[in-house]
Amino acid sequence: MFPFVTDPGLPVDGPLIGTEVYSRSAFTFSLHELYRAKAVTAPNMAVTGEIGSAKSSLLKCLAFRSIPFGVRFYTCDYKGEYELLADLAGVKPVRIGPGLGVVMNPLAGIRRHPGQTEQQWLHTQRARRLLLLEGLLEIQLGGPLTEPERSLLEYAVDAVTQEHEASAGRMATPTLSNVLAATGRPGLWSHRLDRLAYPLETFVADSRRVRLALERLVSGALGGVFDGPESSSASLDFTEAGAVLDLRAIRSSDAMTAMAMTCAQSWLEAELSSPDAPPRVCFYDEFALIARHLPLIRRTREQLKLARALGVANVLAFHRFSDLAASGSADSEQVRIARGLIEDCGVRVSYRQATGSLEQAREFLGTSDVETDLLRYLRQGVGLWKIGVRSYVVKHQLSRTETAMVHTDSRMTADEAPYAEARSPETPGAAS
Ligand SMILES: Nc1ncnc2c1ncn2[C@@H]1O[C@H](COP(=O)(O)OP(=O)(O)OP(=O)(O)O)[C@@H](O)[C@H]1O
Ligand SMILES: [Mg+2]
Repeated sequence: MFPFVTDPGLPVDGPLIGTEVYSRSAFTFSLHELYRAKAVTAPNMAVTGEIGSAKSSLLKCLAFRSIPFGVRFYTCDYKGEYELLADLAGVKPVRIGPGLGVVMNPLAGIRRHPGQTEQQWLHTQRARRLLLLEGLLEIQLGGPLTEPERSLLEYAVDAVTQEHEASAGRMATPTLSNVLAATGRPGLWSHRLDRLAYPLETFVADSRRVRLALERLVSGALGGVFDGPESSSASLDFTEAGAVLDLRAIRSSDAMTAMAMTCAQSWLEAELSSPDAPPRVCFYDEFALIARHLPLIRRTREQLKLARALGVANVLAFHRFSDLAASGSADSEQVRIARGLIEDCGVRVSYRQATGSLEQAREFLGTSDVETDLLRYLRQGVGLWKIGVRSYVVKHQLSRTETAMVHTDSRMTADEAPYAEARSPETPGAAS
């Protein structure tokens, strides 16, 4: 025992999260401030833990409590659990779905940030659009695209943005529909085949599959919602506390939800790239839905890099690490990207983990033996926070208003149910 010795806590100001269990000191936290103080190398945070262990609750409270600090929150809501947060924060959720009147363009352009040259900016813009298109189409087709299919998408996107002719200021913004139209107009891009001595007819036949898939996307559930021209699309109001994109209306299948989430996020990210916007945090709750798809997780990796340059903080929440690498073997690209994403998270919070997930948690979080063992016993709302090289066990405390805000239906009797047998007070040995 070390009486009279308390942990100095984090060297930053920010909203109160709760108490550090061992030292009983107040635990305040802010991703932006930590990044500014160089306590973390990237303003990203990962939150994991069993179902119902209070991950979303932390996200909601972080968003809510950061408002007085001038930080805006942005999130997609596909379960309808962020409504109360929106209500308390005074923002109206944007309902997205067929016939709901909101039209977004996932291919919208991002703004150039001060550290970028024009050339770099054009390159990022193009790469970002191609990653998104390829990702959506690979999911639609259930597998990777062939080379001619990739080339056709490139040709069509370049033709629509007129990259080779117009100056940056006059470049057009592509939409899914006009990219589709451009794939069917070889006059716009056939000159690029000349160098390859690739006969046009053969190329068109070789790449037909991707045109059909794009057509299906545009005429299917994504059409009409994620296919808008710039002028008609919704736009964010930075005077508001944040935005909640409600995606409940698009839940026909997990793959469709993942595609819709990605499109909505892509649009959101473009909006968030505004240079004079206040500090922003983007929440990716239920991140595993996206991470299951290699092309989408690839896109997220690029986006997180960009976000850092734009000063946008990101919070990713998912159940267990195996969700991020569900379909990959140990050294597959999927697992490597997942690992890289977690490594890019300067802050890693783990709530209670099932025994079967402990080894992976240790590997991804870099926990010690004692910490790994502790993860099995954490009670609801108590998490192990790894920030840089330091660790804290934090009890996330809720106000009465927040208790209602974070309540999720499936856990009606949270107090009696899953962790009732856990030892008192918050963790084993915490009494000392
Ligand atoms: N800090 C807390 N302390 C105690 N209980 C909490 C706390 N935060 C949330 N809860 C309770 O835990 C329940 C589950 O929380 P939450 O929905 O945030 O979990 P989750 O980990 O996001 O679950 P899922 O994996 O299903 O998304 C809530 O209904 C709430 O009543
Ligand atoms: Mg949740």
